[in-house]
Amino acid sequence: MAEIREVKPAEQEMKRVSAHSHITGLGLDEKGRAKFVGDGLVGQVEAREAAGIVVKMIRDGKMAGRGVLIVGPSGTGKTAIAVGMARELGEDTPFVAMAGSEIYSSEIKKTELLKQAIRRAIGVRFREVKLVYEGVVRKIKVGFVKHPFNPYARLPREAELVLETKDDRVTLRVGEEVAVQLLQQRVRRGDVIWIDAKTGEVHKSGRACGKEERRYDVEVYKCVDIPSGPVKKDKEIVYTLSLHALDLSQAAQQAAVLSLFGVPASKEIPDEVRQHVDKSVKKLLSERRAELVPGVLFIDDAHMLDIEAYSFLTRTLEESEFVPILVLATNRGFTKIRGTDIEAPHGMPLDLLDRLLIIRTRPYTAEEIREILRIRADEEEVPLTEEALELLTKIGEERSLRYAMQLMEPARIIAEREGRTKVLAEDVKKAAEYFVDVRESTRYVQEMEEKFLR
Ligand SMILES: Nc1ncnc2c1ncn2[C@@H]1O[C@H](COP(=O)(O)OP(=O)(O)OP(=O)(O)O)[C@@H](O)[C@H]1O
Ligand SMILES: [Mg+2]
Repeated sequence: MAEIREVKPAEQEMKRVSAHSHITGLGLDEKGRAKFVGDGLVGQVEAREAAGIVVKMIRDGKMAGRGVLIVGPSGTGKTAIAVGMARELGEDTPFVAMAGSEIYSSEIKKTELLKQAIRRAIGVRFREVKLVYEGVVRKIKVGFVKHPFNPYARLPREAELVLETKDDRVTLRVGEEVAVQLLQQRVRRGDVIWIDAKTGEVHKSGRACGKEERRYDVEVYKCVDIPSGPVKKDKEIVYTLSLHALDLSQAAQQAAVLSLFGVPASKEIPDEVRQHVDKSVKKLLSERRAELVPGVLFIDDAHMLDIEAYSFLTRTLEESEFVPILVLATNRGFTKIRGTDIEAPHGMPLDLLDRLLIIRTRPYTAEEIREILRIRADEEEVPLTEEALELLTKIGEERSLRYAMQLMEPARIIAEREGRTKVLAEDVKKAAEYFVDVRESTRYVQEMEEKFLR
């Protein structure tokens, strides 16, 4: 059994409710038509269908060297649609998201940051045949020993495991290393897993969601079929690494050598390292030992990029052999390209714009706003009365959708303070008094300036 092995960190326990956590896809039917509400997305039908076509083109390899620009007013779902695209593309396609402003980091050069982002968005898929034990876990029992220093802690020592396929059943006794992984990955009865027979690496594929399996837990998991055939078998394992990951491991190897001579490692990856990786990858590709998986580099608020970044991106799209699909989003109309005095559509150079398919998002109707707020309230577990939802919808229409969303949790806290579990319209009103929107805050400061600074 291997001595050193990378152990995956345990799944994050806290449920993160981010602004787009309700979105699970683009909500399209088999014909690519958008359902009014689907996968957490509401309305914005044209843009979603357009995004669906782009996803298909990406999957079919027809988007190489091209990109997409999503334009529309603030809060109309540009970022949401990009998130939906990422979900549709699935885990196997790299999707790297960054904000345009991220290039202004003081630690690392703009072009270096973009280079790394581009290379993170390109995957190389390897196939390997491994001898594994695979099946659905029917029994798992971990044996513990006392921690040598901490009387309250226990350490896993070994585990007994029953794995079952449709045709076979095997009882395994595994050592400490495997037991630790079983605990860290929270392997339970009903999970489908495989264990590398040589290295002991544990991999959780998902849960066997048969009829008998009840969905009482809140954890998100993938449903998978119960494997058939023998438990112990040769299995083709497919995994995807990004070019950036390969760069890093190559750089680490070189750094290890260099550190012998006292040369410190740098934050930037030397170009020779990338060239070396490109060369090896090309060799693997030509020998058909690996496949290239061009992913997506999504740059949100792309108007924050400057001319230097734009020219770098355009040049890369044009010249590089390994390029991801570029997806940009902006809410700017005709404006200056950063770093120049030139005005241009969306503040972007024309030669880049020329290569982009443009998708537009439209302002929402009241009906769409109401539905989006309903989904968010559900996601954030804020129980709204119909009147509260109506008021929020009105605020969403008159002020902005984001502002209406941001009032939800404060309104819930206000209701809670009053000893209520349901949020009433008056709680929403109170929240809107406590927290103003940008229009109101700027108006307020301007008014004060007129009063005091003259
Ligand atoms: N059609 C939609 N269906 C469901 N949720 C949506 C939809 N459109 C937007 N949202 C949600 O509304 C919020 C604002 O949308 P989003 O952040 O995508 O706007 P944006 O167009 O990217 O705005 P900005 O230009 O300010 O970046 C997010 O929480 C998003 O998930
Ligand atoms: Mg956005």
